[in-house]
Amino acid sequence: MSSDPAGPSEGASTSNQSQSQGQPKSSGEAGPSGPASGATAGSAKKHRAKRGGKGGKRKKGSGGVGGAAGNSGSKSAAPEPGVQARRLALAALARIEEGAYANLLLGPMLDDSELDRRDKALVAELVYGTTRMRAALDFLIDRHVLEPPDASGRAALRLGAYQLHFMRVPSHAAVSATVAASPKRLRGFVNAVLRKLSAEEAPPWPNLATELSYPGWIVDLLTEELGPAHAEGALRWMNQAATVDTRDDGYTQNRASQWVAAEVGAEASDLVLDLCAAPGGKATAIAASSGARVVAADLNPSRVARMVDNIEHLGAKVETVVADATATPFAAGCADRVLIDAPCSGLGVLQRRPDARWRIEPAALDRLPELQYQLVAEAIRLCRPGGTIIYSVCTLSRQETTDVARRVSDAHPELIELAPPGSPWEPVEGGARLLPQVAEADGMALFRWQLAR
Ligand SMILES: C[S@@+](CC[C@H](N)C(=O)[O-])C[C@H]1O[C@@H](n2cnc3c(N)ncnc32)[C@H](O)[C@@H]1O
Repeated sequence: MSSDPAGPSEGASTSNQSQSQGQPKSSGEAGPSGPASGATAGSAKKHRAKRGGKGGKRKKGSGGVGGAAGNSGSKSAAPEPGVQARRLALAALARIEEGAYANLLLGPMLDDSELDRRDKALVAELVYGTTRMRAALDFLIDRHVLEPPDASGRAALRLGAYQLHFMRVPSHAAVSATVAASPKRLRGFVNAVLRKLSAEEAPPWPNLATELSYPGWIVDLLTEELGPAHAEGALRWMNQAATVDTRDDGYTQNRASQWVAAEVGAEASDLVLDLCAAPGGKATAIAASSGARVVAADLNPSRVARMVDNIEHLGAKVETVVADATATPFAAGCADRVLIDAPCSGLGVLQRRPDARWRIEPAALDRLPELQYQLVAEAIRLCRPGGTIIYSVCTLSRQETTDVARRVSDAHPELIELAPPGSPWEPVEGGARLLPQVAEADGMALFRWQLAR
């Protein structure tokens, strides 16, 4: 489950979110060409190449790499920036494999490195892209290895294969720099497999989950619930490099979250309770745009601490509380508007969280709706007659969206469903959703009720 583990994707201190595609400055070193240990005898099969969705076999030595490509001929002890970048990417991939969150990890790693801005952008693209496309890369790689490589070998092969198949890095630069960045003991093997990969065109994908590199259950779920076209559109869109939206006050927040905050509809005289508020993105947006009194609660003390930092950084007028939003200390009927931006599976924000797809467990979709329902139930208790309850989630699963909303409406005849907002929102039963590929934003769902007077 994801209760916004990737908080730093949105926040006052911007992390390295921009993932420039194929714009590295890096250069490659000539790598060792050792024996093809562990590599297959080689398949000569040629297929259509998949290059950035455009098809066609790439032209070697062309495209996308600024600066010198290929063998730099460097004799100095320090590795080329391109090799250093790949070394850092491999270190990050190893940590992610051990369980670190990609977006929490990468910012500090890049801050600590001496790479220049473009090479840092290259590292971000390598790490996020390799993580995101893991299943597709493994499919490509596994056709050329006799025995499964260990974790380091797998990471190096994924890194190289990502450059060969999904970036415009010239093949020789991708292979040589990746080989040079790999641990010495693996260089011959990595070189042999990557050379095979670079010499062939991509094979046909066995299925959509492999091609788009998602766990099969996510593809199946969205296909069933959104329909095949919407599901594929959303999944493809969430494979693109994330863009960064910045508010007027400098806070980094996806536009979908900004739209949710706007749909709270707060007015200057309102008391707004935001009960799942950390790190404060929506609370600060509501306070700034409306002048309302905003009280922001969250269960997680460290996330509240981060919210306090964000509020101070922005100079926002938001009061904060650590509280369990299923049983708050607030008085019944005290608030004009209560927002539940609930913990959810996060299936709508996979673009900004490249590792999340491998983390989310299908069981979370069975577990979370009960919590989500209890959170809305407390919001209803706190809302004054005539006030508004807003339930939002950054996911697209039926269980966490329309099913929760229907349960709320059925159990509370005193609630009046409010009309869904207009485009890019699209109406769903009882509320509205944002399809990421339509809204060009995070996937979200929003439900609003007025409590009868
Ligand atoms: C989607 S995030 C909120 C994002 C936030 N509204 C924003 O815009 O920045 C969900 C939040 O719910 C919090 N949470 C989870 N269970 C909770 C509970 N029982 N009571 C209060 N907060 C809870 C998590 O700690 C997490 O910060």
